[in-house]
Amino acid sequence: MCGIVGYVGAQSAQDVVVAGLKRLEYRGYDSAGVAVLADGGLASAKKAGKLLNLEKELKDRPLPAGNTGLGHTRWATHGGPTDANAHPHLDNAGRVAVVHNGIIENFAALREELTGRGHDLASETDTEVVAHLLAEAYSSGGDPAEAMRQVCRQLEGAFTLVAVHADEPDVVVGARRNSPLVVGVGDGEMFLASDVSAFIAHTRDAIELGQDQVVELRRDGATVTGFDGGPADVREYHVDWDASAAEKGGYASFMLKEIADQPKAVADTLLGRVDGSGSLHLDEVRIPQSVLREVDKVVVIACGTAFHAGMIAKYAIEHWTRLPCETELASEFRYRDPILDQRTLVVAISQSGETMDTLMAVRHAREQGAKVLAICNTNGSTIPRESDAVLYTHAGPEVAVASTKAFLTQLVACYLVALYLGQVRGTKWGDEIRTVVRQLSEMSGAVDRVLGTMEPVRELARSLSAHDTVLFVGRHVGYPVAMEGALKLKELAYMHAEGFAAGELKHGPIALIEEGLPVVVIVPSPRGRSVLHDKIVSNIQEIRARGARTVVIAEEGDEEVVPYADHLITIPVTPTLLQPLVATVPLQVFACELATARGNEVDQPRNLAKSVTVE
Ligand code: F6R
Repeated sequence: MCGIVGYVGAQSAQDVVVAGLKRLEYRGYDSAGVAVLADGGLASAKKAGKLLNLEKELKDRPLPAGNTGLGHTRWATHGGPTDANAHPHLDNAGRVAVVHNGIIENFAALREELTGRGHDLASETDTEVVAHLLAEAYSSGGDPAEAMRQVCRQLEGAFTLVAVHADEPDVVVGARRNSPLVVGVGDGEMFLASDVSAFIAHTRDAIELGQDQVVELRRDGATVTGFDGGPADVREYHVDWDASAAEKGGYASFMLKEIADQPKAVADTLLGRVDGSGSLHLDEVRIPQSVLREVDKVVVIACGTAFHAGMIAKYAIEHWTRLPCETELASEFRYRDPILDQRTLVVAISQSGETMDTLMAVRHAREQGAKVLAICNTNGSTIPRESDAVLYTHAGPEVAVASTKAFLTQLVACYLVALYLGQVRGTKWGDEIRTVVRQLSEMSGAVDRVLGTMEPVRELARSLSAHDTVLFVGRHVGYPVAMEGALKLKELAYMHAEGFAAGELKHGPIALIEEGLPVVVIVPSPRGRSVLHDKIVSNIQEIRARGARTVVIAEEGDEEVVPYADHLITIPVTPTLLQPLVATVPLQVFACELATARGNEVDQPRNLAKSVTVE
């Protein structure tokens, strides 16, 4: 949520910053801006709307050439998406420029104090106060990092900041509290960004900043301190993917590319963690096995799509470990005073590792003594840093705002956690666990096969583009899949879509069904739990009897559903608990195609941003 970039080096700061913002636009696209230090002064440009508007502005009115600068792409919180509220914000003398990600909770009081001291604030944002405070602090000490530290000590809330001062043409300063900020270490040039993708074209060497740290960048290095000026611990790391992973690679959208990436993402997430004998090796789960054996309850917390992965985790964890497991929306978790103790294992799922709702839930869980295991896709992000252990998913960068490949890899990670807990605790399902571990290794190929059969799904999506509502139903793990299908359609196609447990239809939602209404049904395998299958076959008939147009997603060879399917989408035969890995894919393709048919931009749906760093 909001992307920020800073640069100092030998290249054109404007070019580096704007290219970085392009990579961060998924974090917010309400406005964008850039500032450059040049000719002893500071020049800036900012525009409401997408980055394209700023690029046009810069083409018409280029900034003077300079080698130090910063930029911002915004997801509006305080103040609407106007030119005036766009970042960077400047002080009255136009010597300081600042960009910000987060919310400064005490900005109103600070604003009043500044106004009292004669400052003239022009925007409705919380950020602008920082530019004025930095100007004051710098004028009394002449040290940009110290000025930043002083200001940070006055701020409350979540704030990650990057600033430049016209008197310091070779310095960029940054500060981090809660929202992410990473340093990129180049050869004679340094970068700051919300995420490494902003500078990956220049360097893969990075430094992860911790909570409450200030960094001063010069061409030849970075100096990091705490807000108190004391020394700070930082972690240097090398990014294991390159710029091409964050490119569209010939696809019309990042979403299409990320859907296509899924077989690899699934395989990569399993790599090195399962072996041919059906055993699991999760060395990175640093919670001692003795502690895991004592766990008496698992709580899974997450938001949005990650929450749907967590719902599926519940089925897997309870089945393979026989431990009670609850899955809860992270945004609700801490407000209901949940019962947690040292024997509770909390699993926090987050693609970005920065979702504030999930982070706050993690903190709450740890305060109560619970152990937290994060499932995360972003190396070095806040949630894994604040957890007891992390299992990274290896989806690679996910740029499209709607999550696809991250979801599939979250599922894989949830299965791994469930199977690992089962293995460590030695449940009666030992043989089944070994078999499933082997079956998991075949899922990448199964996802690939699904992707090869999607043309009829695309055709169907186009034919339904004029509809207003689509319902999704499923049972067992098909229920969270139905919710995920509905969420994808809401966020991409802006259509009314709901996912229900099929058994709940008769308790109310069936009243929504009318002639021609598309209802997507996710059918469990007819093998094994055939009771579940029988029940859903009855549900399809009930839906169809009321005039709905049924879109049935069923396993290959499932003849029983054929008579009731207006549209049949087949998926490979898989073990029941693993079916979401293949059943979700047609729903992603369906939503993407339907949204495109309605003229929507699939990578950047309206009102949304990836990485939601406000509560
Ligand atoms: C939907 C989507 C969101 C995220 C949610 C959590 O397509 O992407 O619902 O899943 O905001 O984000 P993370 O996983 O980064 O915590």
